[in-house]
Amino acid sequence: MSAIPAEQRLGVPSYVRHRKLIDWVRGIARLTRPDRIVWCDGSEQEANRLFDELVAAGTLRRLNPSKRPNSYLAWSDPSDVARVEDRTFICSETQDDAGPTNNWVAPDQMRATLGELFAGCMRGRTMYVIPFSMGPLGSHIAQIGVEISDSPYVVVNMRLMTRVGRTVYDILGEDGAFVPCVHSVGKPLAPGESDVAWPCNATKYIVHFPQTREIWSFGSGYGGNALLGKKCLALRIASVMGRDEGWLAEHMLILAVTAPNGRKYHIAAAFPSACGKTNFAMLIPPKEFSDWKVTTIGEDIAWIKPHADGRLYAINPEYGCFGVAPGTGNKTNPNAMAMLHENVIFTNVALTDDGDVWWEGMGPAPAHAIDWQGGDWTPDCGRKAAHPNARFTVAAKQCPSIDVDWEDPNGVPIDAIVFGGRRSGTVPLVMEARNWSEGVYMAATMGSETTAAQAGAQGVLRRDPFAMLPFCGYHMGDYFRHWLDLGAELQRAGAKLPKLFCVNWFRTDKAGRFIWAGFSENMRVLEWIVNRVEERARGIEHALGVTPAYEDLRWDGLNFPRAAFDAITRIDPADWKRELVSHQELFGRLGDRLPAQLEATRRQFDARLSG
Ligand code: GTP
Ligand code: SPV
Ligand code: MN
Repeated sequence: MSAIPAEQRLGVPSYVRHRKLIDWVRGIARLTRPDRIVWCDGSEQEANRLFDELVAAGTLRRLNPSKRPNSYLAWSDPSDVARVEDRTFICSETQDDAGPTNNWVAPDQMRATLGELFAGCMRGRTMYVIPFSMGPLGSHIAQIGVEISDSPYVVVNMRLMTRVGRTVYDILGEDGAFVPCVHSVGKPLAPGESDVAWPCNATKYIVHFPQTREIWSFGSGYGGNALLGKKCLALRIASVMGRDEGWLAEHMLILAVTAPNGRKYHIAAAFPSACGKTNFAMLIPPKEFSDWKVTTIGEDIAWIKPHADGRLYAINPEYGCFGVAPGTGNKTNPNAMAMLHENVIFTNVALTDDGDVWWEGMGPAPAHAIDWQGGDWTPDCGRKAAHPNARFTVAAKQCPSIDVDWEDPNGVPIDAIVFGGRRSGTVPLVMEARNWSEGVYMAATMGSETTAAQAGAQGVLRRDPFAMLPFCGYHMGDYFRHWLDLGAELQRAGAKLPKLFCVNWFRTDKAGRFIWAGFSENMRVLEWIVNRVEERARGIEHALGVTPAYEDLRWDGLNFPRAAFDAITRIDPADWKRELVSHQELFGRLGDRLPAQLEATRRQFDARLSG
């Protein structure tokens, strides 16, 4: 028995005055048995100390400072490279509250499992306490979280992705609300045992308790599995808060687009993982559109709330980007490239011989590099240099297109919401929903072909409602109802609702090549969307909504023939009949929690397609 008071062994800094928080940290330390506890303050000195330790441990490699100042490269364990959806759990009181699209285990049973997994799991390691804010510090829309983690890699990433600092404790005071997040890589060290570069565990659990608003994550150090402010808090837990409190937590980018007349519009867009949110959020218009300007507010998550003026306002709860590297280059996303010059953590990209990074799609390949698994790589070796889900972590303020209002605590008013999946056929380049409920239908039935962002097979078409399939913290049917209710409520109050659109950049030809030019050329679609919001652009109404004719988009500077346009905008009745049957399968899975309005809309679409 030690005579030192527990508080002192915990090393609680004097500025932490929150009894419940201190008790919680003590409880987790007793359970997990770390060698040391470090209370993080988010400072640069702290980050530099951790970077030095991570380099010494072999987790990070310092990149050539003349090429990438203050930047680092991590290579993860090959078994720990993406979110693990099949190991992600929503442990609501009843299975029905989690719904058929989430994995569920009874809370008591899960707590017992976690109790065993976490017992002693931090032995030989340091436990870090990371206080963070999702959203501008002190904003009435922001939420506070505290992540306990035994991964210093998580600490340095959280400092870029969220607002970490002592101020969080000032905001919490003695009894403020916070979301407790417990994370362990799940690899305790025996006395004298040496560590590996990327500790993790074959057993993984990413667990949410929506009732008590808690997060527990075990076994992975990667991305959304481990940076718990992002998908776990800002989407899964926040979606439950939004349901209870009348707002929305969404997998959406937020951009501002300023028209030639100086009017500024704000657009939110939901695309599934690795389907172009970062690219669209940072779009640089082609030179024929140089009188249009796009600025970036967020590129992955939006919290959207009804404002006092009756409109929907959105904030980006994040502080940084955890962006997909492959496919990011000066042609596709120059703004992202420009934000990567310094102060970046790269994960699972290749290392060049001059100490810089490279990935597929970045630009000309080096003659030789070391691939993400540490092997020699040459352009003809037949392997990828970077993992397809390789990512960069960087503070959002480094983005050249960042919007002046991106940290406005009240958010920005949303004029249109765009939904888009990765579909090789069926879904047209763009269409506008005739009204809110048909727009909700389109979003609810969105399909997308899977990518490397989730562990498992790629290119498989699945329904990904609102791009939220892996991120909704409750029953998907209730989530649809929440969207319908919010729209109806705002409409009753006489508010101006955002217009709803769906897009698809990914239709392919017979040879499997993308037909649409995409990237900066998406500006042409964005212009149409803004002009539809202003009710000054034409379109053709069809069974499902409104789609532009060839003449309704501006083509100067792009040689895009009418036939190609027809190929990506055609509504094929036979395809859509099949599509509606597949929507019915999704609806069938959701059972009696599916709002009847959606099935009624489906029947209307079906009748119109036949008529
Ligand atoms: P998460 O961070 O996983 O949520 O993804 P994200 O939606 O932000 O994905 P991101 O913008 O990083 O897109 C990644 C992939 O989409 C890359 O392979 C890009 O090349 C591709 N992509 C983005 N925009 C376009 C586009 O307009 N056309 C085509 N064909 N591909 C695109
Ligand atoms: C996604 O998969 O949608 C991401 C990356 O944004 S991760 O944070 O790893 O979930
Ligand atoms: Mn995402």
